[in-house]
Amino acid sequence: MNEAPAAVITGAARGIGAACAHSFDAAGWGVVLVDRDPDALAATAAACSERALTLTGDVTRRDDNEAAVRLANERFGRLDAVVANAGVNLARPIEETSDADIDRLLDVNLRAVIYLAQAARVSLARTSGSMVVMASKTGLVAQPDSPLYCASKGAAIQLARALALDWAADGIRVNAVCPGIVETPMLEEFFSQLPDPERSREEFEHAQPLGRLARPSECAAAALFLASAAASFITGVALPVDGGFTAQ
Ligand SMILES: NC(=O)c1ccc[n+]([C@@H]2O[C@H](COP(=O)([O-])OP(=O)(O)OC[C@H]3O[C@@H](n4cnc5c(N)ncnc54)[C@H](O)[C@@H]3O)[C@@H](O)[C@H]2O)c1
Repeated sequence: MNEAPAAVITGAARGIGAACAHSFDAAGWGVVLVDRDPDALAATAAACSERALTLTGDVTRRDDNEAAVRLANERFGRLDAVVANAGVNLARPIEETSDADIDRLLDVNLRAVIYLAQAARVSLARTSGSMVVMASKTGLVAQPDSPLYCASKGAAIQLARALALDWAADGIRVNAVCPGIVETPMLEEFFSQLPDPERSREEFEHAQPLGRLARPSECAAAALFLASAAASFITGVALPVDGGFTAQ
């Protein structure tokens, strides 16, 4: 087995996933970066070391999750962590939520996490590795006007906790990161749909106890910590990275 650890990171083309790619790579990990956007994925990889590998794929497909795990094993000889980061947002009242919305949200935010867990389990058992689920503070405390998103993230957190119990005997740790509001393209898209994006941004900033929004690198730091040996006795945790929001 190679000495350097290796990770699969989904949704790595931009936002928090790209920050995870940079953080894990900078810490010496081999990374397999997965996203459905090949151009942005290539840009993320270009900012990493030459070790970094990319896989254009759709995380809602079982095959693509299995391919990512296979690539890590083939090229790095091991798999020490998977970061289930790819996710989609939906700010829509339940009365206006369509069947297509339900499928998209649950497929990306929950089904894909299940597929990655299934694909990675045997490999993670070999290394006593870990899984990190990029959930959300909205899985811990509800926020208005996003019922399906909140439900999908709450389910992802409970999946992580349940797997932490089921996989503990194999030495595999499973944890969730629960970001607050993070400066990413997803957030920009959300603000752009509001009547007064600048005003909304200021209101969101003031609503955070630390008085600002999170940087993607701050969520990546939490994911890297949870995946690393420094967190060797931490499993089943849902770690808020939310500037104190859920402490209120
Ligand atoms: N930005 C926030 O404020 C915030 C807050 C809490 C939690 N989160 C969560 O953090 C994670 C990352 O969020 P972000 O803000 O960086 O999002 P983002 O939209 O900026 O980036 C998400 C990435 O995931 C990829 N992706 C989406 N669906 C995919 C699919 N089916 N297959 C492959 N790739 C796919 C996209 O192409 C994109 O590159 C998500 O799970 C999100 O729900 C974000």
